[in-house]
Amino acid sequence: MCGIVGYIGNRDIESVMFVGLERLEYRGYDSCGMALVDEGKIKIIKVTGRLQNLKAALEKHHLSGSVGIGHTRWATHGSVRKRNAHPFTDPEGRFAVVHNGILENHVELRKKLQAKGYKFTSDTDSEIIPHLLASNYKGNLLQAILRTVKHLKGSFALAAISADDPDTLVGLRTGSPLVAGIGKHEYALASDPLALVGITQRMIALGEGEVVVIRRNQSPELYDFAGKRIKPRIVPIEFHPKAISKGRYRHFMRKEIFEQPTVIKNNIEHRIHNGRISLGSAFRFYSEEMEDFESILIQACGTSYHAGLVSRYFIEQFCRMHVQVEIASELIDRTSVFDNHDLMITISQSGETADTLAALRAARKRSDLLKVLSVLNVKRTSLDRESDSAIYIHAGPEIGVASTKAYTAELFALLTFTLELARKKRTLTSRKLREIKTALAALPDLMAKVLRQDRSIREIARRFQKRNSYLFLGRGANYPTALEGALKLKEISYIHATGYPAGEMKHGPISLIDSKTPVVVVAPRDTTYGKMSANIEEVAARGGQVIAVGTAGDRELAAKSAAFIPIPDVPDYILPFLTVIPLQLLAYHTAVFRGCDVDKPRNLAKSVTVE
Ligand code: G6P
Repeated sequence: MCGIVGYIGNRDIESVMFVGLERLEYRGYDSCGMALVDEGKIKIIKVTGRLQNLKAALEKHHLSGSVGIGHTRWATHGSVRKRNAHPFTDPEGRFAVVHNGILENHVELRKKLQAKGYKFTSDTDSEIIPHLLASNYKGNLLQAILRTVKHLKGSFALAAISADDPDTLVGLRTGSPLVAGIGKHEYALASDPLALVGITQRMIALGEGEVVVIRRNQSPELYDFAGKRIKPRIVPIEFHPKAISKGRYRHFMRKEIFEQPTVIKNNIEHRIHNGRISLGSAFRFYSEEMEDFESILIQACGTSYHAGLVSRYFIEQFCRMHVQVEIASELIDRTSVFDNHDLMITISQSGETADTLAALRAARKRSDLLKVLSVLNVKRTSLDRESDSAIYIHAGPEIGVASTKAYTAELFALLTFTLELARKKRTLTSRKLREIKTALAALPDLMAKVLRQDRSIREIARRFQKRNSYLFLGRGANYPTALEGALKLKEISYIHATGYPAGEMKHGPISLIDSKTPVVVVAPRDTTYGKMSANIEEVAARGGQVIAVGTAGDRELAAKSAAFIPIPDVPDYILPFLTVIPLQLLAYHTAVFRGCDVDKPRNLAKSVTVE
């Protein structure tokens, strides 16, 4: 959480950093601020709330200078107030720092600094850093940073500037992401390469325990925490500016929902050549290793966790293997779970989710035998670096906080991995494999067909917009879809929504059914349909209003429902790609009707880098 930027170069620093912060606002939007070195002094502006407040403040007091840092905050230590907004300085105002992550030993360090007479003006852990920098500074910013970092425990990234050194920008990472952009006589720092698009064309992705020193008109220098020089690996920034604009759409989320057919089409082009699946160059398992995998542990958070739950059905059905799926944050203290598996799959859009990373590290400590495969959207991230093998989902930048296109792209990666595993393990005939691949080729058109129901789904959202509680039900692989539908609705429209396995309803949630609580059922004609129909009857008998996602032409289901959303009749392994789309649109339109900030829902952040 929190986004960091920094810039040194010939353009207007304030505007460059503002663009960077706008691109990082998905990481938190509780408060924001900037600090620049100007004529031997540090000048700071910070505000609570969104970047538009910062813009207004900058219009009144334009900041100029030789080097700058900026921050957008997702509050952890200290409430949402101006005094807790970044950047922070030391008491003399000689150093300014922005920080992303958590300092675990901040209480102890604060006490020590207070004993030395340092006064604190905020409730944050971050303010310790400029104070430590000031106490460690002997004329060289890099050396002061290296001395300071020795005292800090935790997982974080930071950027610092000094009034005494107007042509230097320093950044470091240990646990949280940081990249250094390299342009022509201009350099930048950011928590995510997205912030650098259109500013610099190349970058260095800092590794764990690395510090970058950027001096005006000089190539950045990279060091480890012991002060040893490291050769930087410079890579191109791959995103195109078009990919990060809303285009003709009102919200990023809407754009991303509608991009799904294209994303899957691109994936088919990347992954299926002449009927053969290729999982990409980052997929580094040998055939023999794949043949030997016996038991799979999948772990992830949020929407990615739901993709993991769906993929369990793929793997169990096609590979006949044991699969356990866990929420990452719940795994960390259950390390004996790792002993029972030989493959861990982590799923993450951002590649930086702290809980997922912590579970991966816990697994590494406990078991030498476990191999890790990560399914990721963003390359060169922490999960990417720490995995044995990776599959990239090629969804392009996902900016709306609520994940949509990354979900279906994760499903695609997980299904194609399953098919490869089944081929290696010979659990599927080549005929069946061919049949599945042919069905996959039709997926983009099928998704586009479902998207064409946007208007009627909007109408359903309009009818039910005032309801304060929703239930989502499904059986089998439709159950994770119900969970995802409920998550989307609560994330962006702040309506209480619960996803439940339909069969379990009679053991509790049925008591919630009344005429005011819409019940969204994911009920296509698959093997679960018979039992699901009985569950829908139970809901209807109690006066519940059913919104059904079902197979086109299912008149019986349509007759039982207050609203019916048809999806094409497709094989069960294609269903999860289609049934989720109406639920994404329902959540989207409901949020718009309720006047919610769709792309930046309250309290949430897209990349959650704290445990
Ligand atoms: C946050 C986001 C969710 C996302 C989850 C996991 O909670 O708001 O949309 O599903 O993190 O993120 P990841 O990047 O690991 O997929």
